[in-house]
Amino acid sequence: MVNLRTVQAHNAALKSLAPGIVAVFVGGTSGISLSTALAVARHTSSPKIYLIGRSQIAADTAIASMKTINPSAQPTFLQTDISLLKNVDSVCAEIAAKEKRLNLLFMTPGYLTLKGRDETAEGLDRKLVLHYYARMRFVANLLPLLTAAAQDASVDANARLSRVVSVLDPHVSVRAGGSGTLDFSDLSLKHTFSLNKCGAHASLMGDFFLEGMAQRHPHTSFVHTYPSGVATGVMRELPLGRVLSAVLKPLLSTFLVPVQESGERHLFAATSGRFPPKAEGDGVQGDVAVGSNGTKGSGCYWVSWDGEVFPANEKLEKTRGEDAVVKVVQHTEEVFKRVCDEGKTYP
Ligand SMILES: NC(=O)c1ccc[n+]([C@@H]2O[C@H](COP(=O)([O-])OP(=O)(O)OC[C@H]3O[C@@H](n4cnc5c(N)ncnc54)[C@H](OP(=O)(O)O)[C@@H]3O)[C@@H](O)[C@H]2O)c1
Ligand SMILES: *[C@@H]1O[C@H](CO)[C@@H](O)[C@H](O)[C@H]1NC(C)=O
Repeated sequence: MVNLRTVQAHNAALKSLAPGIVAVFVGGTSGISLSTALAVARHTSSPKIYLIGRSQIAADTAIASMKTINPSAQPTFLQTDISLLKNVDSVCAEIAAKEKRLNLLFMTPGYLTLKGRDETAEGLDRKLVLHYYARMRFVANLLPLLTAAAQDASVDANARLSRVVSVLDPHVSVRAGGSGTLDFSDLSLKHTFSLNKCGAHASLMGDFFLEGMAQRHPHTSFVHTYPSGVATGVMRELPLGRVLSAVLKPLLSTFLVPVQESGERHLFAATSGRFPPKAEGDGVQGDVAVGSNGTKGSGCYWVSWDGEVFPANEKLEKTRGEDAVVKVVQHTEEVFKRVCDEGKTYP
């Protein structure tokens, strides 16, 4: 475990990063993303922070706190509903029109639900879009800006940052006796949807898509984190979610990670040299984490709430051995082609 003091000391030293880092927070109006955005404001000089979400009220409050914490911070709210990939494309185009480089893409959108498959106008399940497809579309769209940040000659090489962080759970498919398998014949779960499968597919496809991106884009690092239990608004869409949350929070409080600590820990995951891109991780000595495929410094990391990578898991190794990286990337690119490029529904 990386203890909280180490995390705090690391974050406090971030002021030495070049001023003006550019960070996008998808799901930035609430919870872990907002808490991490506030930590960026607390610990860096004149950051440009983009918050993406639907709630104007939540964004106004977030931006006011950010400016109180750090008057040099430059927050912007981009309001959109990203359950449609075409909205993801528009908001990415808006960012690309304003910024030449992006240092951090941080993503948490999602919600808990008891409902079954809920199809969007694009033919995809809404929950699977928020937890997987929309996130990976942000990655695909913003990689040119992330690469530009990695190669920014105006910044000292050891102060450069180019990172993607997706907060979900790399191991949900193998918790509680889960099989850790993907249904390659129905990756989008059009025909065989269940909430359980949806959770597993979102997690596993995220795992392997990010691993594929780390191979192809050696100057950016890719981190998939498990936040553990964090007291946020995540239950708000459940029936009686707010009541449940009010009742459960005090009962669970000793097991929950406080939301501010989660933000500090996620800022560590988003900036620590433990998680270097492949180009820098190759053959590096010292405190570099083991990548998701078992190679130290591979550029893709599956990280638990405490800053340590998950140990290798046989079930996930087996799924990787079924060519998961290639198949997941191929499927996802097909979805993007059909829905985003051709404007059709999937499939
Ligand atoms: N909290 C936990 O205990 C826990 C545990 C394990 C895993 N996780 C996972 O970690 C992630 C982050 O959790 P959290 O607790 O930070 O969640 P949260 O507080 O509920 O925040 C979710 C964010 O997603 C945004 N969002 C939801 N639907 C959207 C849509 N259609 N379009 C645009 N934005 C949308 C929300 O903003 P708007 O409402 O403004 O749209 C909000 O900012 C989630 O994926 C969750 O499943 C959480
Ligand atoms: C893991 O990924 C890295 C980066 O793509 C690659 O260099 C390495 O050979 C891979 N290791 C294994 C065991 O496949």
